[in-house]
Amino acid sequence: MTRRVAILLSGGGSNMVALARSMTGDHPARPVLVMANSADAGGLDKARAMGFETDYVDHRPFGGDRAAFEDALHARLMQAAPDIVCLAGFMRVLTEGFVRRWQGRMLNIHPSLLPKYRGLHTHARALAAGESLHGCTVHEVTPELDEGPILGQATVAVLPDDTPDTLAARVLVMEHQLYPAVLRRFAAGDRSLVTLP
Ligand code: GRF
Repeated sequence: MTRRVAILLSGGGSNMVALARSMTGDHPARPVLVMANSADAGGLDKARAMGFETDYVDHRPFGGDRAAFEDALHARLMQAAPDIVCLAGFMRVLTEGFVRRWQGRMLNIHPSLLPKYRGLHTHARALAAGESLHGCTVHEVTPELDEGPILGQATVAVLPDDTPDTLAARVLVMEHQLYPAVLRRFAAGDRSLVTLP
């Protein structure tokens, strides 16, 4: 049975494009919805141009009421009835209540070699620490931020003249390979670790 995938994003959506482009042919899944937490997320335009159903729930009108925002997000997701939710540059931290509703079928990509550098500014922190290797991680989402079971990692060498931007750009290239590779396995019920390159 073809698995239904919803993709949540906040920004430009390059990971969404990589995931969506990979879900063709004998891939066990298909994208059914691309959602954002604001109407002007560039990724929504890309998804529309690819012919996918899109929508958004703006978190701002909810102010600090995260549960109400997440209830609206959950309700819209349920209309699409996805089997799997992929967080792809979705920058709202989700509460335990929301995560518990999707746990075991929600993935996230994070731009570091977890458990190193949870949170933000991962490239600058890796450079400041003098790391020789950096990369990205796809993990299952659990209530603890960036702590869920790891399903895949891709490494890149840190170069002597790297800046956070040049490092981020090389990591993003690996993200676009890693996330589709992990999703293909996960959608087939296989949680074995993917390592790249
Ligand atoms: C990616 O680097 C991802 O790891 C991080 O946010 C960025 C999103 O990029 N969580 P894009 O919107 O997929 O281009």
